[in-house]
Amino acid sequence: MSLLEVKNLTYTYGQGTPFVTHAVNDVSFSVENGEIIGLIGHTGSGKSTIVQMLNGLIEPENGTILFDGRNIKTDFKKIKEVRFNIGLVFQYPEYQLFEETVEKDIAYGPTNMGLSSDEIAERVKYAAELVGLTDEMLKKSPFDLSGGEKRRVAIAGIIAMRPKVLILDEPTAGLDPKGRDMILSRIKEYRNETGAAVIIVSHSMEDMAKTADKLLVMNRGNIEMFDKVSNVFSNVERLVDIGLDVPHVTKIAIELNKRGFDIPKNIFTVSDLKEAIISCKKGGNL
Ligand SMILES: Nc1ncnc2c1ncn2[C@@H]1O[C@H](COP(=O)(O)OP(=O)(O)OP(=O)(O)O)[C@@H](O)[C@H]1O
Ligand SMILES: [Mg+2]
Repeated sequence: MSLLEVKNLTYTYGQGTPFVTHAVNDVSFSVENGEIIGLIGHTGSGKSTIVQMLNGLIEPENGTILFDGRNIKTDFKKIKEVRFNIGLVFQYPEYQLFEETVEKDIAYGPTNMGLSSDEIAERVKYAAELVGLTDEMLKKSPFDLSGGEKRRVAIAGIIAMRPKVLILDEPTAGLDPKGRDMILSRIKEYRNETGAAVIIVSHSMEDMAKTADKLLVMNRGNIEMFDKVSNVFSNVERLVDIGLDVPHVTKIAIELNKRGFDIPKNIFTVSDLKEAIISCKKGGNL
């Protein structure tokens, strides 16, 4: 049994109006413990709609979502319980901070779970440390922090609930490269420490090549591919066709391959390309 099993999900906006949008069509996939899934696709391909259904924020028109074998719609007393297990960090979550202090903001979720004050304090400390927030920052108003720091507070607030599935909708949008790497490495650390599954919605193929185990590629509401990162990136032409861009290093590898060098096409990080070029050189091919 998979941790998360999504079967035949369908969602339509504006049903019965002239503005009907079939946002998600018959989408099925499953996620195992400890996996990091990159959810990618052109703008409007249905990514946010899918993650909102996974967290019970909107109800699918058709299809079922099983968490640990339990139907999230019918097998939980309250939708709140689903959200403690399947945590969703919205896009630009920093706009939703509202408490007087960072500490209180992070404590909001665990407090809602009805945990003891000791347990809440411990979870806040764990989550804050994990995302790199200092004790001094915990006492501040969230509004006195930088954009990147606010983003980390919002992520910590979901992590403090220790979800078994952590979902983040474009967690690195609008951050500089250093901020992006920081957030992605902390998310990975959460997975490593807890064995949770993670789903990251992203526009950056480069970031997902570095972070994800598998990629779920959406195209106009349908699943185009769901496979290991290296297998997905080996279909470069198709990815470009559906409006996605592959990492620069992949393009270089493909070009070298086309020109007759013994370099595999499914290269997607700088270090892999370096290794391939070195071994190609050793073989007398370069
Ligand atoms: N609240 C809404 N009302 C009507 N249509 C919507 C609504 N939200 C999304 N849509 C439409 O549904 C489709 C899927 O949107 P969704 O937000 O899931 O895409 P996305 O892949 O997350 O896009 P992006 O990369 O731009 O965030 C799009 O055509 C979008 O215009
Ligand atoms: Mg979106």
